[in-house]
Amino acid sequence: MCGIVGYVGPRQAVDVVVSGLKRLEYRGYDSAGVAIVTADGLDTRKKAGKLANLQTIIAGDPMSLSSTGIGHTRWATHGGPTDANAHPHVSDDGTVAVIHNGIIENFAELREELTNLGIQLNSETDTEVVAHLLQIVLPSVDGDLSEAMRRVCRRLSGAFTLVAVVAEHPDVVVAARRNSPLVVGRGEGENFLASDVSAFIEYTRNAIELGQDQVVCITPSDITITDFDGNPAATVEFEVTWDAAAAERGGYELFMLKEIAEQPKAVADTLLGRMKDNRLNLDELRISEQELRNIKKIVVIACGTAYHAGMIAKYAIEHWTRIPCEVELASEFRYRDPIVSSETLVIAISQSGETMDTIMALRHAKDQGAKVLAICNTRGATIPRDSDAVLYTNAGPEIAVASTKAFLTQVVAAYLVGLYLAQVHGTKYADEISDVLAQLADMPRRIDLVLDTTEHVRKIAHELRDAKSVLFIGRHVGYPVALEGALKLKELAYMHAEGFAAGELKHGPIALLEEGMPVIVVVPPKTGRDVLHEKIVSNIQEVRARGARTIVIAEEGDESVVPYANDIIRIPESPTLLQPLLATIPLQILACAMATAKGYDVDMPRNLAKSVTVE
Ligand code: G6P
Repeated sequence: MCGIVGYVGPRQAVDVVVSGLKRLEYRGYDSAGVAIVTADGLDTRKKAGKLANLQTIIAGDPMSLSSTGIGHTRWATHGGPTDANAHPHVSDDGTVAVIHNGIIENFAELREELTNLGIQLNSETDTEVVAHLLQIVLPSVDGDLSEAMRRVCRRLSGAFTLVAVVAEHPDVVVAARRNSPLVVGRGEGENFLASDVSAFIEYTRNAIELGQDQVVCITPSDITITDFDGNPAATVEFEVTWDAAAAERGGYELFMLKEIAEQPKAVADTLLGRMKDNRLNLDELRISEQELRNIKKIVVIACGTAYHAGMIAKYAIEHWTRIPCEVELASEFRYRDPIVSSETLVIAISQSGETMDTIMALRHAKDQGAKVLAICNTRGATIPRDSDAVLYTNAGPEIAVASTKAFLTQVVAAYLVGLYLAQVHGTKYADEISDVLAQLADMPRRIDLVLDTTEHVRKIAHELRDAKSVLFIGRHVGYPVALEGALKLKELAYMHAEGFAAGELKHGPIALLEEGMPVIVVVPPKTGRDVLHEKIVSNIQEVRARGARTIVIAEEGDESVVPYANDIIRIPESPTLLQPLLATIPLQILACAMATAKGYDVDMPRNLAKSVTVE
């Protein structure tokens, strides 16, 4: 959360910074601001609300030519989303500008210290203290911004990416990182800093991951990276494999629609090259087969949509490996005393790789000797870096706040891990594993067929847009799908929506039913576990008998649901375990269409951010 951009080079800095912020706006959109270094000192502009508000201000009063700039798009933590709390924050004397992502936990005592020095603070943010502290330290280090940053960082606790410029040093941007994301873009005669590579992908694909507790200084020709004590730091350079077009809407009205449509390709790309010599080969995993053979327990940790992917994976992993698998919300796992050991494999699932709850949970697991495997969509992010092994989902950049293609690829990647464990533990024969892989390989084609239901689902969405509440039910892997459907509706259409295990309805939730209340039912395949199918058909009858409007997601050819369904959304046949890859899609389309029908901003829903880098 919060997007950060820094630039030094021959281009007009404000243009580079604003275009970078546009790509990072998914990280937060409570306010936006920029600061550039000019011959007359710093020029800072900032405004509450989306980036468009800032752009209007700049268009009305253009900023001067400058080679050095920083910019920020905010997800509010300390202080409301006002102009005064917008970043950059400027020091007392107006010579230092700072932007920040994260939370400075000891800011209250630093604030008091500054107030005692007679410095007046102009915002309620934790960030502002850093601008003043840098101003105070700079004279004692001969104006060396990197050294000043290191000294200030040593006094801070919490999580932060900080980026600063000073009036007297055009062509220098300095940043620091602890726990919050920051990457460097290496250009030709220009360099970049950003929360993620999408901000500078238009200009360069050469990037450098910054490690923990590091300070980086960029000039047009140099990049210098040290630890907080000034020692040279080891870094990892990488090349970004996708291009600027992947981070654009590409003709779609919404990023979410584009990302829903990209799901067949995202799933195909995640499966690409995993089979070698008729064996499943996950060569990017850095845990040896021997270590995996020792695993006696699996714990999946994740948040939000990724947590639902983990819930689905549990059914498959236990079925294929016979290894007990728990799934837990990272924010809960982190603050309890979980039973993990060196024989536990913790699987951390995260699209961004920067979710603070998941980072803290995986560290908690590692401290107790567990092996951690990340399933992540963002190369070089903190979660894969802090893990013992990583399996990347190849979904490409996901920009819309509500996760879609990342979710499907997380399920696929977790399934690959499950199958790999089954191969290593010998709980499945090679031909059984190949059969599942062949079924998985056919899923992109079937997902494409589900996308054909879009118009029908939109029509249903239109009819449901005034519903007070929507319930979702499912069984087995259909249960997490129901939870995901409800989450999507809450996130995007701001409606009361709840997902239940269908068997639990009678233990309480059925009391919620009122005449006409929409109940969306995920029906398992008829040819799978027949008993599951029968039970859910009974559940549909139960809710229908109590006046619910039933919207049923069922396989082509499943006629048994017809008498009890007000609407049917058809999906292709699939094995039970793979059905979530199909059944989730109509629910994504439904939430997107309901939000659109209500006139809401689908890609940037209120109060949310894509990457939640605070606890
Ligand atoms: C936020 C997003 C969700 C996402 C969750 C976990 O809450 O709004 O869409 O599922 O974070 O994100 P991660 O990047 O760890 O998958």
